[in-house]
Amino acid sequence: MKLTLSVIKADIGSIGGHICPSQQLLAAVHDHIHKQGEELLLDSYISYTGDDVAIVMTHQRGVGNAAIHKLAWDAFIKGTETAKQQGLYGAGQDLLKDAFSGNVRGMGPAVAEMEFEERPNEPFLFFAADKTDPGAYNLPLYLAFADPMNTPGLMLAPGMAQGFRFVIMDVNCTEGDRIIELNAPEELYDIAALLRDAERYVVESVWSRATGKQAAAVSTSRLHNIAGKYTGKDDPVMLIRVQKDFPATGEILAPYSIAPLVAGAMRGSHQMPLMPVQLNSGISYFDGPPVVSCAAFAMHNGKFTEPVDAFAHPFWDTVRDRVSEKAMEMRRQGFFGAAMLPMSELEYTGIMDKLGRLDKRFIQRQVQTSKEEEFV
Ligand code: 13P
Ligand code: 13P
Ligand code: MG
Ligand code: MG
Repeated sequence: MKLTLSVIKADIGSIGGHICPSQQLLAAVHDHIHKQGEELLLDSYISYTGDDVAIVMTHQRGVGNAAIHKLAWDAFIKGTETAKQQGLYGAGQDLLKDAFSGNVRGMGPAVAEMEFEERPNEPFLFFAADKTDPGAYNLPLYLAFADPMNTPGLMLAPGMAQGFRFVIMDVNCTEGDRIIELNAPEELYDIAALLRDAERYVVESVWSRATGKQAAAVSTSRLHNIAGKYTGKDDPVMLIRVQKDFPATGEILAPYSIAPLVAGAMRGSHQMPLMPVQLNSGISYFDGPPVVSCAAFAMHNGKFTEPVDAFAHPFWDTVRDRVSEKAMEMRRQGFFGAAMLPMSELEYTGIMDKLGRLDKRFIQRQVQTSKEEEFV
């Protein structure tokens, strides 16, 4: 059966700053999806990660379908109404356009989708991250799909022996989707050269070279490109099909034990370690640390099993302890050096006015000539 797996997520308001949505807000989103989505959807799952609400859906209308996108957009509008009634912070934060125009891409919400022929068993993972941006997935995806040090399946599984194709997007380009396709393993060093610059080059999708089937889809929106200023972080979602010709679930999850420093946390302007957290977790320390959750599913004819919380296992408690230490260590240096993002990212914030004012106060000193030199 051919079906489409879509996830659309937005920050539409939060309790106590940017911590998490309210139960009433979530109920409003749920209510809309269940009532209005009955005809359109095969199944749906709604969750939150930090202050972001994600709607995972299965249907048969393909990628970028207007009816599906409108369903999610309208659900977020309903949630925003509740957020306003409850006085939540940042009500409708990610809904950057006034009216829906056919596709939520470019309107604020993040979207990741893929269409495929459902396998007899179809395990997949849904990731959601808060207080960071889509480049946060670059390293985990590289390790999972291209590095045999992380993924023994690249050596052991016949269906993975040919490697994977990475589609990488230049998210600085505002005129349209500027993408490059690179093959692992032959072009590993080229892939690495791009992915190291996670604010500019973002993995958009990963494909099996043996079968041509899509393994991963990542949201790539950069809100400051839409709004022209800082309106919140581009908290990304991701879908990954696992097992058989794709990496095993454990191979996809393993890189998250590294907790790499990623862009985000306080005011979206810092470098902080990415902490794997349980589903429906809020945010705390320094509007962070950046968090990532993962729900594992099986499905049949587009119907989901219950989600399994991939980062709830006791193993991740040790990782979380280590991430907390790493986060506090980074925060010891405050605004200094690598703790904050480079100017290219901060230029969407109010710091530009400050620097503009200071620039006018700079004076250029005249070079003084000493008397001795005058006699020479
Ligand atoms: P099972 O034998 O439990 O199916 O595990 C197979 C596997 O490859 C796990 O990585
Ligand atoms: P969000 O993008 O998650 O709303 O976070 C915004 C922020 O600036 C937190 O300090
Ligand atoms: Mg927010
Ligand atoms: Mg958020």
